[in-house]
Amino acid sequence: MLRTTPKINKIYLLIRAKDKEAAFDRLTSEIMESKLFKCLKEMHGESYESIIRSKLVPIVGNIHEPNLGMDRIIAHQIAHEIDLIVDCAANTTFDLRYDLALEANVNGPYQLMLFAKKCKNLKLLIHFSTAYASGQREGLIYEKPFTMGGSITKEKVTSHSPSTKFPSLIAANELDFVSKLKNAIENNCFEQIMKDLGDERAKLYGWHDTYSFTKAMGEMVIDSMREGIPIVIIRPSTITSTYEQPFSGWVQGFRVIDPAIVFYGKGDFPGVLGDPNCLVDVVPVDVVVNATMAAIAKHGHLQIPELNVYHVASSSVNPLSSSQLMNYCYEFFHSFPFVNSKGDQVKVKNMKYFDNMSDFSNYISKKLLKQPDDVQELNEVEHSKMQIRFKRKVEYLKNFSKVYEPYAFYKGWFHNGNMRKLMEDMSEEERKNFDIDLSKINWRNYFLGIHILGVKEHVLKGRS
Ligand SMILES: NC(=O)c1ccc[n+]([C@@H]2O[C@H](COP(=O)([O-])OP(=O)(O)OC[C@H]3O[C@@H](n4cnc5c(N)ncnc54)[C@H](OP(=O)(O)O)[C@@H]3O)[C@@H](O)[C@H]2O)c1
Repeated sequence: MLRTTPKINKIYLLIRAKDKEAAFDRLTSEIMESKLFKCLKEMHGESYESIIRSKLVPIVGNIHEPNLGMDRIIAHQIAHEIDLIVDCAANTTFDLRYDLALEANVNGPYQLMLFAKKCKNLKLLIHFSTAYASGQREGLIYEKPFTMGGSITKEKVTSHSPSTKFPSLIAANELDFVSKLKNAIENNCFEQIMKDLGDERAKLYGWHDTYSFTKAMGEMVIDSMREGIPIVIIRPSTITSTYEQPFSGWVQGFRVIDPAIVFYGKGDFPGVLGDPNCLVDVVPVDVVVNATMAAIAKHGHLQIPELNVYHVASSSVNPLSSSQLMNYCYEFFHSFPFVNSKGDQVKVKNMKYFDNMSDFSNYISKKLLKQPDDVQELNEVEHSKMQIRFKRKVEYLKNFSKVYEPYAFYKGWFHNGNMRKLMEDMSEEERKNFDIDLSKINWRNYFLGIHILGVKEHVLKGRS
């Protein structure tokens, strides 16, 4: 925003921090000093800091508290000033405790909507959800909003037999249910019960996990409270490094496909529990940002009190299969291998696919626990330490594979007609400056020439 729309007046950034100084420090270290901002630094030279500080204002807050946890006077001032809200706060852990996921992903949007209603000049509210909020839907998945009471299981049940009744999913009831349980459960088993509960409720209503389930409920809350507020829900699939803006390969965090890519390159991920033909839906982060900017321009101008959903996803316009992705990783690490602690290059082999957990865990246990070359040189103590390390690795991989199993066998792909309409509405110059055309990306070139290098530079920071 700061780079491409320099006329922007001010952006208030809600930051979790213990006080103003801590929020200021987070703004400095996590944003202003980030490599992502190097182009802005070059653009503004010595005035970079003063320009950015005049536009980016850190505000201490917490999305799931009343007034978003902001100081009352500041909240009042902000409510009178702002014309746009962009909400990307969420807890993104897939197998999170149900109470915590509800707090961030359901109560967060609830508090946000209460605050949005106080903002008299608000023209648009943008909320980030996820394409996987569509849960266990299969085939071509449309950009359809969720409404309170609905669920994926209900859709399935009623499509098979329209007269069958299935309980309505009501976010307030889930919050109420968990809050009552919290008082009834004894401390020592609370965490595990909450983790299992999220998983059970998600599966009952037709989602794969607590994260996607609570994100879908967050959408329902927004829809049920929106009244006259124009809403855009952005549903990205799996976000990866920048394709080209402001430069290629920038990425933050180490999640979802990146641990799999890196562990594979290091020889620690020799097999995968998944379908080689399953589509891996990825979208570079600059495309997500550009689509959001284009949606802000369009719907902020129209100001129609409706809710529009955008799938910012590639699977229907430029599909990439799991085996293609792993082949690109093989090509990359075959040419540019990691070097292990002994200074030897790690030789990667083609990824082996498994369709059940038992075969998968037998295979990785056999591959990782047996390292004959290493074992011969070790004494008894070193040998047992190594076995413990390998066992931990195997447990980690089994857990990782269990969490991502539904996505490694995913049977859906995302329609993005609204994205295409958005692109058609843009002028040629806008299309150039805010490129959202996912169909033109050559995934082989992207993974070999941009993404894996980006992860190595910005996430591993040169460490192997
Ligand atoms: N990354 C993806 O592949 C992907 C894909 C689809 C959709 N999305 C959606 O995109 C959005 C951003 O995702 P991300 O990948 O950037 O996630 P992330 O790295 O986990 O960041 C989430 C942000 O939300 C903040 N947050 C969490 N709880 C909060 C609270 N109670 N009050 C205020 N801030 C809070 C976190 O603050 P702290 O820094 O203080 O922890 C963090 O900055 C989310 O809504 C996510 O569901 C992401």
